[in-house]
Amino acid sequence: MSYTSEMWKSIRKVEATRQRRLQETHPRMPPRGQEEILKRFHPDYVEGGMRELLVGPNRGDRTPNELADLLEGRSHIDAAAFDLERVDYECDILVIGGGGAGASAALLAQENGAQVILTTKLRFGDANTMMAQGGIQAADKPNDSPVIHYLDVMGGGHFTNVPELVEALVMDAPSVIQWLEDLGCIFDKEPEGTMKTIHGGGTSRKRMHFARDYSGAEIMRTLRDEVRNRQISVLEFAPVVELVMDDKGQVAGAILLNLETGDYSLVKAKTVIMATGGGGRLHYQGFPTTNHYGATADGLVLAYRVGAKLAFMDTMQYHPTGAACPEQILGQLVTEKVRGLGAQLVNVEGEQFVYPLETRDVEASAIIRECVERKKGVVTSTEQQGVWLDSPMIDILKGPGTIQTNLPAMVRQFGRFDIDMTKEPILIYPTLHYQNGGIAIKPDGSTDIPNLYVAGEVAGGVHGRNRLMGNSLLEITVYGRRAGKAAAQRAKEVELGELTLEHLQDWEQQLQEADLEPQIASPLLLPDYTRHTRPVSKVM
Ligand code: FUM
Repeated sequence: MSYTSEMWKSIRKVEATRQRRLQETHPRMPPRGQEEILKRFHPDYVEGGMRELLVGPNRGDRTPNELADLLEGRSHIDAAAFDLERVDYECDILVIGGGGAGASAALLAQENGAQVILTTKLRFGDANTMMAQGGIQAADKPNDSPVIHYLDVMGGGHFTNVPELVEALVMDAPSVIQWLEDLGCIFDKEPEGTMKTIHGGGTSRKRMHFARDYSGAEIMRTLRDEVRNRQISVLEFAPVVELVMDDKGQVAGAILLNLETGDYSLVKAKTVIMATGGGGRLHYQGFPTTNHYGATADGLVLAYRVGAKLAFMDTMQYHPTGAACPEQILGQLVTEKVRGLGAQLVNVEGEQFVYPLETRDVEASAIIRECVERKKGVVTSTEQQGVWLDSPMIDILKGPGTIQTNLPAMVRQFGRFDIDMTKEPILIYPTLHYQNGGIAIKPDGSTDIPNLYVAGEVAGGVHGRNRLMGNSLLEITVYGRRAGKAAAQRAKEVELGELTLEHLQDWEQQLQEADLEPQIASPLLLPDYTRHTRPVSKVM
């Protein structure tokens, strides 16, 4: 059994307060309170969690230590010895990344006349997209509009977001839902055929479209099928280890590593679209993560080395509800939809301590405060701590069977460990979920580096300092499509010069000038589990 007798005692208290709590919602936190709790408890503000970069376009800016080490790493490639004469593949557009952003980009690039190769580190579809649960936002109901969506996104990002990027996101959203549906994506619908929509944290309208609690898997299935059906070339187990430039200062291709043979190959491409996703597997500050095994921030490293500027790299998203028990699924996502459907967060005494749908940064900070400062967390047999997510409330509020119908993947995930979330609450604690920032982009997905386009989690600016639920599946499709289209247009005009790796020599020089002698070769490609032994939610 996963729960100890002490945990069961606490569950009895949760049950005892449930009837009363069904009648009351915890008040929202006022803006002052939000600012204060973020500064005191959000991991972004933890002393020593970040450091200043010493080289590159973001010199002087702060970013998590683990990421800083990789950004200041050495190339895997010996530039002097690498043969740039032997080109293995040639194409108009090289898409790097096999998640939703990469697949969307590949489809639009092909539609716009480009010959495309998509390369991916693991299998096509092994990506955070596949693991996304809750849904995708779009203002397509009569009581909503892109303007209201825009205000929610800006508010969620504490008004730090780049306005033009948010405008593009919300304006394209309704047509992206239509596009996905036309491609065969099966969203949940009401009996009369309208799309079902619910709230997420920080939304003022119900605009979250979903496919049960496996929305990302359904979207990825749809996009991947379409890429396959259109016979776009896909290279699997072939991560990029370095971008290649030409002598005009343009991006002109990439070097791929064959993970099976260890050989390198060279792709010459008129434009490159970076869609490598996030970096949760770097486990900042020892946090567990919801992220896919391949999420090691490779795209940031590759782009940084050719001089691309990064934005908002001092802010990461910790999802409030990562599984805290049992240990086998530590840090895995418990979708925000559970709270969207009515479940409250309660402490060891069965007391509700926070409004359930604050923005994620505030919600996560409130949970950390409850455990660390107020000492009202619940402790497991392996000394993880967390608070209860009172899931049985959902069926009481919305009728029997609601949980099973709306959260089948979640029920199954906990059921494997004999936890019946329709009857018992589940234990959660914040988990590293998302990279709020990334490579600075313009509304068409282009960057300051000629021929380099970016889409999805590896891009920065859309979400400012905090992303709202459901805007990530939206971002990957909106910006994947935009980048695919713009890169295809650009590929029609580009004249590439001589291929070169001179930027690696420049990089070495910058490292020397900064007195750095990095031992790390980056990008990391696969996570390093020899270094992470004690997840942060353990009782200190
Ligand atoms: O909670 C969730 O289902 C996560 C969604 C998201 O990050 O957009």
